[in-house]
Amino acid sequence: MSKKYLIGLDIGTSGAKCIIVDDAGKVVASSTQEYPLYTPKPGWAEQDPKDWWDACVRGLKVILPKSGVNPADIAGVSYSGQMHGLVALDADNEVIRPAILWCDQRTQAQCDWITEKAGGLKGLLTYTNNQMLTGYTGGKILWLKEEEPDNFAKMKLFVCPKDYIRYRMTGTLGIDMSDASGTGFFDVRNRKWSDGLIELAGLDKAIFPEAHESTELAGKVTAAAAAETGLPEGLNCYFGGGDAIIQTTGGGMVKPGTLGVVIGTAGNVAMALDKYEDNPNGALQLFCGNEPGSWMALGVTLTAGGAYRWYRDELCKYERTVADAEQRNVYDVMGESAAESVPGAHGVVFTPYLTGERCPYPDPNCRASFYGLTLGATKADITRSVMEGVTYSLRQLVDIMGSFATNEKVYTSGGGSASPLWRQMQADIFNLPVYTMSAASEGGAYGAIMVAGVGAGIWKDLKEAAGIIKAETETLPVAENQPAYNDTYEIYCKLYHALKPVYDASAAKGY
Ligand code: XUL
Repeated sequence: MSKKYLIGLDIGTSGAKCIIVDDAGKVVASSTQEYPLYTPKPGWAEQDPKDWWDACVRGLKVILPKSGVNPADIAGVSYSGQMHGLVALDADNEVIRPAILWCDQRTQAQCDWITEKAGGLKGLLTYTNNQMLTGYTGGKILWLKEEEPDNFAKMKLFVCPKDYIRYRMTGTLGIDMSDASGTGFFDVRNRKWSDGLIELAGLDKAIFPEAHESTELAGKVTAAAAAETGLPEGLNCYFGGGDAIIQTTGGGMVKPGTLGVVIGTAGNVAMALDKYEDNPNGALQLFCGNEPGSWMALGVTLTAGGAYRWYRDELCKYERTVADAEQRNVYDVMGESAAESVPGAHGVVFTPYLTGERCPYPDPNCRASFYGLTLGATKADITRSVMEGVTYSLRQLVDIMGSFATNEKVYTSGGGSASPLWRQMQADIFNLPVYTMSAASEGGAYGAIMVAGVGAGIWKDLKEAAGIIKAETETLPVAENQPAYNDTYEIYCKLYHALKPVYDASAAKGY
C-alpha cells in the first residue's frame, strides 16, 4: 500500500500533540505545541478554541517537513481530545464564548437539578448509564441557558474540543460516540442521543451534533485548511474520540480482561467491553468505545501520582536535598527509601483523598489520612504507604472491572509506571502480570492513528491495529508479598466507611 502514513492529533488541556506514524506503528515525527488555560473565577477553566487550532497548524507545520513523508502517502487523519468541553457555535459556526473545560466546576446546581428531574441517580442511569458529573458537557449547556441566556440563544450547535479542530480542517460538524457519551445526554446503550433526557431538560435536540462512530469518515481537508497546514487537500479525516477512551485504545486495551492502569496526577483504570454493561451504581464512567459494538468502562481516582507529588513537595525536603546534592531524581531517592520498608509498610496505611474522591466513592468530603502510625514507624514505611495507598485505590477499581470480565493483565502507564518498585507493587496488589507498552507515552494521539488506520482500511479493526503495540517490560506478582498487602488492603477499605461520619462533620465546619 503506497498510502501508509497516518496523522494523529490530540487536543489536550496544556497543548496539542501532532504525530505522524507509519503502518508498522513507528512514530516518524512528533510535536507538542502549548496554549494557555484561563481561570476567570475560582473553579472555572476556559480556553480559546482558536488557540487549539493555531497550535495544530504550528504542529503540523513542524511534523510534515521533519518526517520527510510525501504528503501524498498519508492515508488519513484522526483526533483525540480533552473530553466534556463545551464549544458553543452560532448560526455561522463561529465560536460564541470561550470553551468551558472538563476540569471546570461551576455546574453542581445544574447537575443536581437534572439528576432530580430524571428521578434521582437510578432514574438518570436508565437514560444514559452515567451520572451527570460536574465536568460533563451537559451541566455546562444548562449553565449557559441559566447564566448567559444571550449566548445560549445564539448557540445553534455545540461540539467538543477535538470536533472543533476537525471542523476547521473539513468544514463539517459532528461528534463521535465516545465524546458524546461524556456529555451526559447520550444513550450509551443504544449509541444515540437520549431524546427523553433532552426533552426533560427542556433543550432543543437541534443543538446536539450528529453522532458517529470514531472510525467513520467525517470529511476531507478543505483547500483553505490545506493552505494553512500543508496537509494535502482532500485528505480523509475520521471522527476520532475523547482522550480518556481513545488513549486506552491507543495503549492497546482493546479486549475485555486487559486493564489499562494509569498513574498520572489522577489515576484511572479502564477496560474495553465487547457488549453493553450496566454501570454499577453509576460508580464508573461507562462510555461508547471507538468502534461499533465496543464500550469502555473507566474508573477515576482523583489523586494518584498527585498524592505522591504532594508528599514529595511537603514532606520530602530532606530527600530533595540529597537528590540535588547527588544530581539524581528525587523520586529515585524516595523509591530507595520505600524499598527499605516491607509490603504492607508495617501497617501504615495512607488514604489518598487529597481532593475528595470520584470512584469508587463519589464524595467531595473525604480527606486523606495516614493510619497505623506507631513509635516504630519509619520514614520508609510512610513513603511506601503513599505508593501503596494509591495502588489500593486503583485495586478497588480493578476489582469492580473484574465484575465485567476475568481480569487477565494490566498495561500500566503514566509517571507512576516508570518506577520498578511501583510496577511490582501493582503486580502484587492486583495479583496480575503488569506490562508497560511501546506506545503508551504517545497517549490519545496514538489511538487516533489507530482509528484513522481502521477508517482508511489499513487494519480490519482496532484489535488488528493493536498488533503494532509491543510490550516493553513485564512484572509478575510475587506470591509471598501478597498476604501482607491483602491484610492492609482490608484495613484501607474499612477506613473510608469508618471515617465517613468524620468527613461529613468536618466538611460541615468548612474543612
Ligand atoms: C475524562 C476526563 C479527562 C479529560 C481531560 O472523563 O475528565 O480525561 O478528558 O483529559
